[in-house]
Amino acid sequence: MGRVRKILTIFGTRPEAIKLFPILHALEGDARFTSCICVTGQHRGLLDQVLEFAKIRPHHDCDVMTDDQSLDELTATLLTCVGHVLDEEKPDLVVVQGDTTTAMVSALAAHYRKIAIVHVEAGLRSGSLAHPWPEEANRSIITRLATIHCCPTRRAADALRSENVPHQTIHLTGNTVIDALYWTQDRLAGRGGSSDAFREALQRFAGRRHIGVTCHRRESFAEGIVRVVEAVGQLAHRPDVGILFPVHPNPNVRGIVRERLSPCENVALLEPLDYPDFCRLLDACDLMLSDSGGVQEEAPALGTPVLVLRETTERPEAIEAGGAILVGTDTQRIVAETNRLLDDRSAYAAMARAVSPFGDGRAAQRIVELLATA
Ligand code: UD1
Ligand code: UDP
Repeated sequence: MGRVRKILTIFGTRPEAIKLFPILHALEGDARFTSCICVTGQHRGLLDQVLEFAKIRPHHDCDVMTDDQSLDELTATLLTCVGHVLDEEKPDLVVVQGDTTTAMVSALAAHYRKIAIVHVEAGLRSGSLAHPWPEEANRSIITRLATIHCCPTRRAADALRSENVPHQTIHLTGNTVIDALYWTQDRLAGRGGSSDAFREALQRFAGRRHIGVTCHRRESFAEGIVRVVEAVGQLAHRPDVGILFPVHPNPNVRGIVRERLSPCENVALLEPLDYPDFCRLLDACDLMLSDSGGVQEEAPALGTPVLVLRETTERPEAIEAGGAILVGTDTQRIVAETNRLLDDRSAYAAMARAVSPFGDGRAAQRIVELLATA
């Protein structure tokens, strides 16, 4: 057997943790690797929920989160903290995921030390630096620095080829979010729900159509979120719906959501759900309204239609497959599209077929094989 490779996986937010835990599980017990884990703590509660459920024990925790953190402060703090961890661990390879500030800064710190970088979920592009902001810039920077690009779809791989990324470094692996979703679904039966409020809301809304809502994007702060929240308030007038809304802890989201929606009887404002409960919510909902990247991938895989609360998407595969519609943040458009889907059975049925353009649930194993040969 060849030399054992030391892999340092660095992540800091909820979606990175969800999309990386299948790889961390696959690395565990694989004699070809020593797996070392660094969390930056860009998120705290949201991150810890995933670590606990997936039984991931980090070796390093930079614990950088502050309330309402600015991108400047976050970027500067992360660079120093991650740099120290790289100097201590001296890994052969660094793995980063997606397009967060943690991922971008970790790639930069690895590049400064000439350490090879593996980018998981590479090649997503909206074509606009303003949407999503700052993530489109983050992932483009990571592309320039990475040595292995693990693309979730053919479109993502083509996007990298068109940017002259060396072809031999581009690999079509599928998206590990589907691995995470299937793994979690397999464990739902034997596991009680962790949120009483979620269980109570499902009971309260029994017999009604369920709509799930999430929103948190920085480019929607202020006006965009106000328009989305207004749409949810208007939809709540329908007596046949129950709206389940796990609210992101970002203070720029919480205040607006609580102020407008707390009085609405048909809306349950929930704390962020742990991943198993959120998978239950995706399954229980007739429809999702969301600006989340991950939800655009998971909901179609479960046959739950999703209205995407963004101006553009880097995941057009979900729209082409028929499971998602881009509606932006215009109040009237969100209300009209939601009503149309709730009232037109055939339009709804056409969207509610399970499709999985993002993967087959075996992406993590493919990525681990790439790590062995990198
Ligand atoms: C980050 C990512 C975004 C990703 C999102 C997933 C960047 C620039 N953005 O955005 O790509 O879609 O995570 O949720 O990397 N907070 C808490 N507890 C938590 C997490 C956040 O209180 O567990 C609050 C804090 O006040 C924090 C704020 O939310 O300052 C913003 O967190 P931050 O990671 O900067 O941005 P997100 O909007 O979560
Ligand atoms: N999610 C969760 N609990 C919630 C809301 C979302 O576990 O209350 C999961 C969701 O299933 C998806 C991920 O968090 O896998 C998406 O995170 P988020 O929307 O914060 O980030 P994005 O995907 O937009 O980067």
